[in-house]
Amino acid sequence: MATMLLFFVLTITKLSITTGQQNDSLISLGSSLSPGTNNSYWLSKSGQFAFGFYQQGNGFAVGIWLEKMEEKTVTWTPKRDDPPLPHNITLLLDVEGNLVLEDIRGRQVRISDASQPAASASMLDSGNFVLYNSDLRIIWQSFDSPTDTLLPGQRLMPRNGQDRLISSISKTNHSSGRFQLVMQENGNLVQYPVLSTGLSPSHQYWNTQTEKAGDNVTLNLDPNGQLYLLNSSGLIIKNINDAGRSYLGKNALYRMTIDVDGILRLYSHSLVQNDDWFVEWISTNNSCDPTGLCGLNSYCDLNGQQPYCACLPGFDFIDRDQKGLGCERNSSTYGCGTKMDERVTFEELTGIAWEENSYSVVSLDNENACLEECSRDCNCEIALIQNEKCQKQLIPLRFGKTIQGNDFLKTIIKVHDRSLTSTGNGTIVSRKEIKRGQRTDILIGLSCLSFAGIMVLVSVLLVCRNYLSPYKKVPSVGILMPEEVPTLRSFTFTELELATNGFTEQLGRGAFGTVFKGTLPNGQRAIAVKRLEKIATEGEVEFRNEMRSIGKTHHRNLLRLVGYCHEGSNRLLVYDYMSNGSLADFLFISQVKPNWDQRVGIARGIARGIMYLHEECEHQILHCDINPNNILIDENQSPRIADFGLAKILMPDQTKTITGVKGTRGFVAPEWYKNLPISAKADVYSFGIVLLVIICCRRSVDVNIPEREAILVDWVYECFKRNEVRNLVHDEEVDEQELERMIKIGLWCIQEEPTVRPAMKKVVAMFEGTVNIPVPPNLTS
Ligand SMILES: *[C@@H]1O[C@H](CO)[C@@H](O)[C@H](O)[C@H]1NC(C)=O
Ligand SMILES: *[C@@H]1O[C@H](CO)[C@@H](O)[C@H](O)[C@H]1NC(C)=O
Ligand SMILES: *[C@@H]1O[C@H](CO)[C@@H](O)[C@H](O)[C@H]1NC(C)=O
Ligand SMILES: *[C@@H]1O[C@H](CO)[C@@H](O)[C@H](O)[C@H]1NC(C)=O
Ligand SMILES: *[C@@H]1O[C@H](CO)[C@@H](O)[C@H](O)[C@H]1NC(C)=O
Ligand SMILES: *[C@@H]1O[C@H](CO)[C@@H](O)[C@H](O)[C@H]1NC(C)=O
Ligand SMILES: *[C@@H]1O[C@H](CO)[C@@H](O)[C@H](O)[C@H]1NC(C)=O
Ligand SMILES: *[C@@H]1O[C@H](CO)[C@@H](O)[C@H](O)[C@H]1NC(C)=O
Ligand SMILES: *[C@@H]1O[C@H](CO)[C@@H](O)[C@H](O)[C@H]1NC(C)=O
Repeated sequence: MATMLLFFVLTITKLSITTGQQNDSLISLGSSLSPGTNNSYWLSKSGQFAFGFYQQGNGFAVGIWLEKMEEKTVTWTPKRDDPPLPHNITLLLDVEGNLVLEDIRGRQVRISDASQPAASASMLDSGNFVLYNSDLRIIWQSFDSPTDTLLPGQRLMPRNGQDRLISSISKTNHSSGRFQLVMQENGNLVQYPVLSTGLSPSHQYWNTQTEKAGDNVTLNLDPNGQLYLLNSSGLIIKNINDAGRSYLGKNALYRMTIDVDGILRLYSHSLVQNDDWFVEWISTNNSCDPTGLCGLNSYCDLNGQQPYCACLPGFDFIDRDQKGLGCERNSSTYGCGTKMDERVTFEELTGIAWEENSYSVVSLDNENACLEECSRDCNCEIALIQNEKCQKQLIPLRFGKTIQGNDFLKTIIKVHDRSLTSTGNGTIVSRKEIKRGQRTDILIGLSCLSFAGIMVLVSVLLVCRNYLSPYKKVPSVGILMPEEVPTLRSFTFTELELATNGFTEQLGRGAFGTVFKGTLPNGQRAIAVKRLEKIATEGEVEFRNEMRSIGKTHHRNLLRLVGYCHEGSNRLLVYDYMSNGSLADFLFISQVKPNWDQRVGIARGIARGIMYLHEECEHQILHCDINPNNILIDENQSPRIADFGLAKILMPDQTKTITGVKGTRGFVAPEWYKNLPISAKADVYSFGIVLLVIICCRRSVDVNIPEREAILVDWVYECFKRNEVRNLVHDEEVDEQELERMIKIGLWCIQEEPTVRPAMKKVVAMFEGTVNIPVPPNLTS
């Protein structure tokens, strides 16, 4: 083959071609093409393949396509993700031997990256565009950087840039789409969705099961339409298809393409009949198979062979004209710890599989028990029932798809309905079996106890307490009485009742209890009174000790405790009132968004506040619940961390283990739900997420924006990896170096492994620029 080629090349070397559309095949230096003219492409000898400009959208793209077919199939597009090219651009094989795009001002973008200069080029009949050196050896070829199609003679091998095909966005737009076929180093050929987090075995939806075949396995397509894997000794280890319409012999052309829909197809085209493409082989007959065909909170279902996306019950499409974008709840929810009495109902889907993303898995012998379990847990929005397990999931759910014949997979979805009043006490009132695709309410009368709402956090905090409870060691003698704590005042319940006008003006409701606005009679000082709820009665001594410890903290970035009340079962904390609300309000709700410098200042302040708690207090204080609702903004627009020290006060009698926490995508560090020891690094993790939220000025999960940006952590990481952190702040004016530094700090803080995360002291040093910030390691997902 190679000698044939060389011969062929040699015989036509003398034909120097400078114009296109001729089927002589050697292109000399200095040749050029212009889009939209008679000279816009070079043909292969047979006239079958063309290389040059083709129309894409309102502009042009460079690529290779089948010229003789009615529908000109594009087989290769270099720089496929660049914007469409204007008409005044030129494709040039320049005199230095580079293949470049040149604009009217002479600016060039290289297409080839050969290590030596080319002497000539050729569009071969195989569909390969090649550059030759002066010895007529191929120094660069389009076959080495495939896009979505493999042609006979081309191979995929586990090497950078040559190891995968990526589907196109649409039939008419050849930019990188959502699915890929990867020839892995372990010898397995695998199909995955394209995700910013990289390849995870759990996301693959097709493979050749050759993962033990060793190094350098390659995927090949021969001219008869046979797809096969070769191992490094050159032996065929697997035929992927039965050979194509072999009776067509040499009169057929084959291609294998990973199509827009994520399915791999081998096509043939008869050169004699000049027919359309015929599908010889397909990787799956279930169009819903490709992982991630539908967006967040939606699943792929089939109408005959036709796939379509459907929303979870209680959800609606983000954009009804683009149903692939995913769904969002069509009614707001109260969220954890903020539920009043409300009726919760459940709906059920069967036969749909989702990405495994449980924050808690409970073994149960029946389905009703799972419903009850989920209704008790305010974090539980969705649960999956399979294999006698109740898997509580976080929203958003991803990668939903119909699995035929798997009716035992059940998805139950909590639906909040405020219009109904509470009736029962957690038992299931009625339930109906439903088939997939239909919906039925499963009603649960439930007075959603506020206790249930905070139970989860309490249990988290209980763990926190167990890991750091210096006061257990404090002897009960020599404890300061409140009056001996100079800055802290002890209030009576009546005093606070008066100050808050009978607890009428509610400021917020958090995990620890409800906060009311109040005014102290002397000097009209505005205060916020937090009424702790559902706390198992604890020794007065310990409570006072805790107050004393909190009262001793003095830092400009901590919310100051003015006093407290401990009377009977009442526990109230009195803080300064912050008129600017919480950080969450400040970032997401306020009319005027804080600017870049303000945001960096706020992030720095929070870092300092946490460092103070971790390193500078008499006893280290772990916060355990850092999030934008727990950070307040004072009148100088400085951040003030609230709720620190409370982790230790909340100790229910029950020695319950963690039943659930906000998972990977919230603010809680992974060690919580892995039941690993909790250290100050858990706060560092939460800080990292808060930092990214502040920098990007958006929520950590936002389903109202394009799917790839929806999960902040993934999006940040993707932008960082691609050196495009600028995209994170859109067109806002920012100091780019500072932006990159902030992102690096954030990525260090959210490392999965706690020991890899920097201590808060180090984080503060990073902020101040006194230490170098190395490139953060990859995030594992
Ligand atoms: C392109 O070719 C056609 C026929 O071959 C000719 O009529 C036309 O003038 C040419 N256009 C240009 C811009 O050269
Ligand atoms: C050149 O291409 C035309 C049509 O594309 C074809 O009819 C002709 O035979 C080709 N010439 C050679 C020398 O291959
Ligand atoms: C192709 O799609 C990408 C991504 O959506 C877009 O940026 C680009 O402009 C599109 N190209 C054309 C020609 O429409
Ligand atoms: C080239 O074309 C583009 C779009 O058609 C236009 O915006 C640009 O100004 C042109 N460049 C020059 C130098 O004429
Ligand atoms: C695989 O290919 C690489 C690069 O071509 C080579 O260095 C390596 O030795 C090969 N491994 C085997 C087992 O052939
Ligand atoms: C290639 O496959 C053959 C047949 O399965 C096997 O005997 C040989 O050891 C393999 N070579 C390598 C390098 O794995
Ligand atoms: C798809 O269906 C065709 C025809 O029924 C069958 O020949 C083929 O084996 C199926 N492919 C897969 C991957 O199931
Ligand atoms: C939510 O969406 C469902 C289905 O689209 C619809 O039946 C229901 O009325 C919607 N509820 C609200 C509050 O919009
Ligand atoms: C609560 O449940 C018990 C049985 O578990 C039942 O006897 C009682 O009537 C229920 N209370 C309400 C208000 O439904």
